[in-house]
Amino acid sequence: MERVKYTGQLMNIEDVGMETVTKLIQHSQEAKKQAYCPYSKFRVGAALLTADNYLFTGCNVENACYNLGVCAERNAISKAVSEGFCAFKAIAIASDMSDQFISPCGGCRQFMREFGSSWDVYLSKPDGTYRKMTVNQLLPLSFGPEDLAMKKVPDMANAC
Ligand code: THU
Repeated sequence: MERVKYTGQLMNIEDVGMETVTKLIQHSQEAKKQAYCPYSKFRVGAALLTADNYLFTGCNVENACYNLGVCAERNAISKAVSEGFCAFKAIAIASDMSDQFISPCGGCRQFMREFGSSWDVYLSKPDGTYRKMTVNQLLPLSFGPEDLAMKKVPDMANAC
């Protein structure tokens, strides 16, 4: 199928150098402004760079049924995947916490890991400072799609 339109933005990028990181963080801060978080009042934004330099952003979207809320990182990743991009170089995350770097929740770490362990995650503060980590550092000894291929019971009867 031919892809005709992406909502992701094509970036003119050679490698993920400091300039790119700064841009990614700025985009995550912009995305944070769209956060729908009337319950937690905790705004989060994410900016995801695909392997072919498309940028997808996301914010957290909460719900009156609390457990249905979605994190910013998962939104950005889902936007990219739904448009045919599943190889990623980096994601930047922004929040309003000035005293510590925003750290992705466990669910988002696993969601990132689905698409590889060796790509970069930039945890940022509102002043633009950041801490760089890999998905593997955030989620060591992880379980991923490759593990599913390892061992399966051939014809397992349902337990109930
Ligand atoms: N949240 C994110 O969007 N990303 C994170 O990395 C941490 C938490 C959101 C979920 C919820 O809407 C709010 O922040 C408070 O937990």
